[in-house]
Amino acid sequence: MTSGTRPARSRDRADGRAFLCRAVRRPHLFGSPAPSGAPLGTQVANLLPDSGTPTVVVELGAGTGALTSRIHQRLPAGSRLLAIELDEVLAAHLAAHLPAVDVRQGDAERLPALLAEAGIARADTVVTSLPWTLLPGRRRDALLDAVAGALTPDGFATAIVTRTALPGRVRELRSAFEARFVEVTTLPTVWRNLPPAAVLVARRPRAAQIADAS
Ligand SMILES: C[S@@+](CC[C@H](N)C(=O)[O-])C[C@H]1O[C@@H](n2cnc3c(N)ncnc32)[C@H](O)[C@@H]1O
Repeated sequence: MTSGTRPARSRDRADGRAFLCRAVRRPHLFGSPAPSGAPLGTQVANLLPDSGTPTVVVELGAGTGALTSRIHQRLPAGSRLLAIELDEVLAAHLAAHLPAVDVRQGDAERLPALLAEAGIARADTVVTSLPWTLLPGRRRDALLDAVAGALTPDGFATAIVTRTALPGRVRELRSAFEARFVEVTTLPTVWRNLPPAAVLVARRPRAAQIADAS
């Protein structure tokens, strides 16, 4: 799959401005002053296949597309990428800059309805960069249930956890993932990011294992 044609540097600057403009208005929805940097985006994208069978990837909290563009460039031909973003200005910005990606404005908590509207039964991967550690427990759990419920039995989800998050909230988040996934790991921290962050990878949703076995 291929990406847009605008020169990368001016596109990065435009994205940074658009991101900051929205993040200062709704900091609790962002948890970060800047889009993910290239090293972090590459680390997430590298988890996905770049050849072989087409795959279905859903991204929650796509922002200005720092992860979206790298994922889109990587996936094998015939794959689907659905990018969901709550902020209406950023969703429009992303749709304009990555016209080849299926961008939907909406709340990730409405994931089942958004997937149904897009004609997707199950995703192989759900990539997230939601502000997980800032969310109240009930909201976090509802979102995580939606993520786990959207995946195939062998599917996996990712989350970005910033090093600025409170350690107690990070532990709670990891436990919430472990309650819903068989295998949860955290990749090495990417220090060349603002703020530094690590990618949590959660494989094999428990609910899908049970449904698969019955
Ligand atoms: C830290 S930013 C990440 C943006 C981008 N993926 C990146 O890595 O640069 C978090 C994004 O999640 C979006 N977001 C927050 N809550 C959301 C929700 N419930 N549903 C969809 N998007 C949400 C925010 O609007 C923001 O764009």
